[in-house]
Amino acid sequence: MIQVSASILAAPLTSLSTVIPKLKQNAIDLIHLDVMDGNFVPQISFGEALCKEVKSLTKIPLDIHLMVNNPEKEVPKYFALKPQYITFHIEATNFPIRLAEEIKKQGIKVGVAINPSTPASRINTILPYMDLLLLMTVEPGFYGQNFIKTGLEKINRAKEIIGSYPIVIEVDGGVNLNNIERISEFGAKIVVAGSALFHDGKANENALKLKKLTK
Ligand code: DX5
Ligand code: ZN
Repeated sequence: MIQVSASILAAPLTSLSTVIPKLKQNAIDLIHLDVMDGNFVPQISFGEALCKEVKSLTKIPLDIHLMVNNPEKEVPKYFALKPQYITFHIEATNFPIRLAEEIKKQGIKVGVAINPSTPASRINTILPYMDLLLLMTVEPGFYGQNFIKTGLEKINRAKEIIGSYPIVIEVDGGVNLNNIERISEFGAKIVVAGSALFHDGKANENALKLKKLTK
């Protein structure tokens, strides 16, 4: 069954202290934290202080998605949180291998994210250093956008490139009840879900409904 990583960007940020403790581990596998710097992407969301608060409210492992330029400066701020994954964008750094090694040294899994217009082949030379490939299926920066049409082909292409490396594919953006079955069939093992979970205050139920549609 696919894993669901809940993007709290789509939850009411002012009520996180009531929303987060209600998330159940049998429904929500990971908490996805979208850090945005207003530079790599147009918006500023939140940083390590809020991530720390979130951690104090739940036992569900953290999945940190850094949409920031110069991630080498930002990444160390998240080490103390001991997340399951720290994911940085390949478009945002010239030193992905060094950065990946630094993250791994902390016992944290390394995620590399690519934007919809970045070819999957861009990760060729970093494959041995990665644990997760985050495929953006919307332009990064906002929740609630539509899944881009080429998203499924991109999963296929990524699978070919990954070959036998033990790298998990995570799909981020526009995931909902209508497309999760195909996303899972194509080979994604984790999906990020924001608006599909938090639009009606029933995040656990919505996550279970999504998972039920996958094998
Ligand atoms: C977009 C973020 C996503 C987003 C997902 O930049 O990386 O994680 O919050 O939200 P939905 O599921 O609503 O597309
Ligand atoms: Zn994200």
